Amino acid sequence: PRPILLTRHGESRDNVRGRIGGDSAISDSGELYAKKLSNFVERRLKNEKAASIWTSTLQRTILTATPIGGFPKVIINAPSALNFIINIQWRALDEINAGVCDGMTYEEIKKNMPEEYESRKKDKLRYRYPRGESYLDVIQRLEPVIIELERQRAPVVVISHQAVLRALYAYFADRPLKEIPHIEMPLHTIIEIQMGVTGVQEKRYKLM
Ligand code: F6P
Repeated sequence: PRPILLTRHGESRDNVRGRIGGDSAISDSGELYAKKLSNFVERRLKNEKAASIWTSTLQRTILTATPIGGFPKVIINAPSALNFIINIQWRALDEINAGVCDGMTYEEIKKNMPEEYESRKKDKLRYRYPRGESYLDVIQRLEPVIIELERQRAPVVVISHQAVLRALYAYFADRPLKEIPHIEMPLHTIIEIQMGVTGVQEKRYKLM
């Protein structure tokens, strides 16, 4: 069975500052993760002929994907069979749009927009950021990604964001809707999903 590898981008500069949304680059620690991820992927998929790397359109995921496949690909007796990598950027894999709260810290939202903060806390699944999205919106826009993921015959590495990965993971792990916004989705960890006849198997690799 073909694996699907799910991971968040390497730590971003906004993660360090505690700011949500945005389009920042990755931190030094994020860069280190990108290298470790690349080594992991090359080892894990060395017997595959092809693989796809799917990112969002935000630079923190694209930068995390950059080292993957950065090795000589057309050499005779190549140590790795993996010589065909397709990179796709999906807007549907972009992080939840925090609308007017984009770029703020949770503390700032709590202080400057206490009603918004409270409504989100009360119903994180349905709460929609003003001029932004809710988890339900994210779940809906992921539908084409899920259809495409299920059609793939080669392994796929999905490098995306916390809220989006909660929703994707919940689909494969069959977790109830109401749990989705609260699923733990740590940085620098790979969740490997294998779909076999007996159901879905899951492994986790914490690289840092
Ligand atoms: O903090 C990182 C981040 O990806 C933000 O960009 C995003 O708004 C948030 O996580 C989503 O997590 P939560 O729904 O728990 O706020």
